[in-house]
Amino acid sequence: MLIPFYDPEKTYEENFEQGPFGAFAPTFVSEVGAPTTEGVGADSLLEQGESLLKYDFLGFKVNSPFGIPAGPLLNSNFCKGAFGQGFDICVYKTVRSGIFPCHPWPNVLAVKVEGDLTYEKAQEKLIADNNYTEPVSITNSFGVPSRAPAVWQEDVRKAISYEGDGQVLVLSFMGTVHEHQTPEEFVADYTLTARLAKETGAKVLETNLSCPNIGNEGLVCYDLDMTEKVCEAIRKEIGDIPLILKVGYYKNYEDIKRLAEIADKYAEAISAINTIPAVVVDKDGNQALPGKNRLRSGVCGASIKWAGLEMTKKFKEVRDGMGGKFKIIGVGGVTTVDDFFEYQNAGADFVMSATGAMWNPYLAREIKERLR
Ligand SMILES: Cc1cc2nc3c(=O)[nH]c(=O)nc-3n(C[C@H](O)[C@H](O)[C@H](O)COP(=O)(O)O)c2cc1C
Repeated sequence: MLIPFYDPEKTYEENFEQGPFGAFAPTFVSEVGAPTTEGVGADSLLEQGESLLKYDFLGFKVNSPFGIPAGPLLNSNFCKGAFGQGFDICVYKTVRSGIFPCHPWPNVLAVKVEGDLTYEKAQEKLIADNNYTEPVSITNSFGVPSRAPAVWQEDVRKAISYEGDGQVLVLSFMGTVHEHQTPEEFVADYTLTARLAKETGAKVLETNLSCPNIGNEGLVCYDLDMTEKVCEAIRKEIGDIPLILKVGYYKNYEDIKRLAEIADKYAEAISAINTIPAVVVDKDGNQALPGKNRLRSGVCGASIKWAGLEMTKKFKEVRDGMGGKFKIIGVGGVTTVDDFFEYQNAGADFVMSATGAMWNPYLAREIKERLR
């Protein structure tokens, strides 16, 4: 495994200030001696006479239908590194309408899962440590930290300036739960964040619906009435900017159909899936991540590929059945070139990798080699 561009041994703040690392670092020099963080992804293909810009990503031409989903790209420096290594669709980590703290360190740990993390296995305890091995599965637990809007807005503009030819920066945002908040106030916070996100000039926006809903422990995406209200309000706010809905894994086919209808009405794409929650303990059986409400945390990487593929297939089936137009972004467990093609064969219009890309910063290049 290569040096991860996000270092789990460091705190979120240290990563934010000092990262990215490995092949995404600005000081990184490739084997041939050339710095690789200045739009090399596009240039190197151009040098080889490749016909570029052949994929239409929600109205924008991109060099490849592959990228990094919301999360590991903490700020513009990370986006610059990712674009430089040829990840053509980069999602800036989810932002909020106000300052929000990060959960205590550690925020990333390796989890031991034999094969697939099925729904049944996710009910058992998973052992976590800092020994990362292939096929890599991790838990990540940040609590969606955010800088003040003025700060992230300026940084997102910087990130957009790092787009090379055939590359697009997507900005992810969400609403924040407050105590004694009404549903209307929650929706209004999503809308406010949408407006702040729009002001950055990002070409494409993504709303994170796989985050806490008000009033209970569930996620917004599993409350489809709330999801519809949020999507309707965001659409009104952002005009015709392409919108992606980021959701979790759905067990129930009726829910998939309902979400597909909402997507077709208010959005241009669905990105699925986010992490799968599980109880995570250390080798002695104690809670692995310190703090309240952190006994369960989200698992991602190789062991959830089955779930992302299943969602891709089902959303495609439903979309094609209803004559829908939304695109499908397949996410979850893409760690190899073959995984990318498995998602394409399952019906994904675009594919993204978070965990896989973290430990293999050359994944986009390898996929482009094969696409040729
Ligand atoms: C370090 C890290 C941070 C993440 N943060 C976010 C986030 O802020 N917003 C979001 O929608 N998803 C977030 N995710 C989830 C990913 O976008 C993705 O849905 C999930 O990790 C599954 O993909 P993977 O198996 O390729 O990692 C994060 C994932 C990782 C690994």
